[in-house]
Amino acid sequence: MIIVIIGAQWGDEGKGKVVDLLADRFDIVARYQGGHNAGHSVYVGDRAFVLRLLPSGIIHPDKTCVLGNGMVIDPKAFFEEVDQIKAQGVEVTPDRLKVSSRAHLIMPYHQALDHTSEERLGNEKIGTTLRGIGPAYEDKVGRRGIRVSDALSPELLRLRIERNLEEANRIIVLFGQQPLRADDIYNETAPLVERLRPFVTETSHFLAQARKANKRILLEGAQATLLDVDHGTYPYVTSSNPTAGGASVGAGIPPHHISGVLGIVRTYATRVGEGPFPTEMLDDEEPIAYLIRERGNEYGSVTRRPRRCGWFDAVATRYAAELNGFDSIALTKLDVLDELEEIKVCTGYKIGDAYVDTFPAVANDLRSIQPVYETLEGWGESTVGITNVEDLPAKARNYVRFLSDSIGVEIGLISTGPERGQTIILKDSVMENWFRG
Ligand code: GDP
Ligand code: IMO
Ligand code: MG
Repeated sequence: MIIVIIGAQWGDEGKGKVVDLLADRFDIVARYQGGHNAGHSVYVGDRAFVLRLLPSGIIHPDKTCVLGNGMVIDPKAFFEEVDQIKAQGVEVTPDRLKVSSRAHLIMPYHQALDHTSEERLGNEKIGTTLRGIGPAYEDKVGRRGIRVSDALSPELLRLRIERNLEEANRIIVLFGQQPLRADDIYNETAPLVERLRPFVTETSHFLAQARKANKRILLEGAQATLLDVDHGTYPYVTSSNPTAGGASVGAGIPPHHISGVLGIVRTYATRVGEGPFPTEMLDDEEPIAYLIRERGNEYGSVTRRPRRCGWFDAVATRYAAELNGFDSIALTKLDVLDELEEIKVCTGYKIGDAYVDTFPAVANDLRSIQPVYETLEGWGESTVGITNVEDLPAKARNYVRFLSDSIGVEIGLISTGPERGQTIILKDSVMENWFRG
């Protein structure tokens, strides 16, 4: 069985928590796109983990984790994370961590180019994580990237660095920065690549063999649907395909071998960085945004930037459900809304006088959207840590039902806190089936 987990909004929906929870029932957890722009937080008892490159399954000692071909990997960040997680008492060996030979490397000049690109854009900047993600994918598509397998050959690594740096330095110097030196980059990268060698695997073959042996595989999306380079709020997106199709390409798994798709949806929306956000709480709603930000700890787990907060957007989430084919939804952060008297849900958009119920392609259209809201009553009591749906206040249950109806997909899991146990699994749901299986 192969299940894909995908963020339905603009990221940080709580994918880490849900993957950690489900990982218990799976044998392998694989990432298929993105890099260390992701930040997936997992709480286990009094231990807190933030996973960036490593799949969230790594915390479970008996699970194998895979970094798929669709990822971009900064070798320095990789070992920083491996060392960090080891220091937290998790064993990380090549036995249980496999890195695709076809993944691309993020090099120091990619980070420099991420900075210059943002600087050049000025007011139009994307608000990237500045981790070099976009420039690394540009090199991949431009057919000059350095794959893990290339880097394992020292001659090839040096050659590629020299050739690519020539071009990168032209831009870097244009922006008044010091040019980078090929020797420095090579001397820094070569030992890291050597250390990476035992982890390098033909991961698509490894996953195919595992599937044949009836192993259960979880594919962990990073970023989210509305940050997808094809389907998101372009150009304010990341440079990969977090959506379900991307899982097939980025892990090297035939589409028809994927058994199901789980969407992760927050009870509200957030966004980090720039770009259109139709239901964003602005001005007079800033006190509510503040409350949500504090209760929900809505600060970037990588950059600590305060996340922009907004109401649940049913149009955007329906769009995500349609694109990914969600079979079930895990609804996170119900408890964060406990104190609100009223909760708004965006059920449609108006652009000028026209009512639209589909997600426009053009960023400017998205900016001029007037969300159409329905207002629901809050429940005004704590749902923190509730594990039985019957124990939820009736108005909270009503809110969950309203969201499920407006998306048109079952909600199979409700999360009532950051910890593993603070979870409700709904009986007779598709989700329960995966969880039990
Ligand atoms: P991801 O990027 O999708 O994995 O999400 P992040 O980990 O970046 O952000 C989600 C944050 O919400 C983390 O700090 C989680 O620990 C936390 N979280 C997840 N589910 C819940 C929940 O149901 N309630 C609360 N209060 N926090 C949650
Ligand atoms: P997780 O996996 C939220 C955003 C950045 C920026 C845009 C492009 O934790 O949900 P990039 O560095 O990828 O080129 O930045 O995408 N972004 C995220 N926002 N959660 C993430 O990951 C994100 N990864 C990138 O803020 O707007
Ligand atoms: Mg995150």
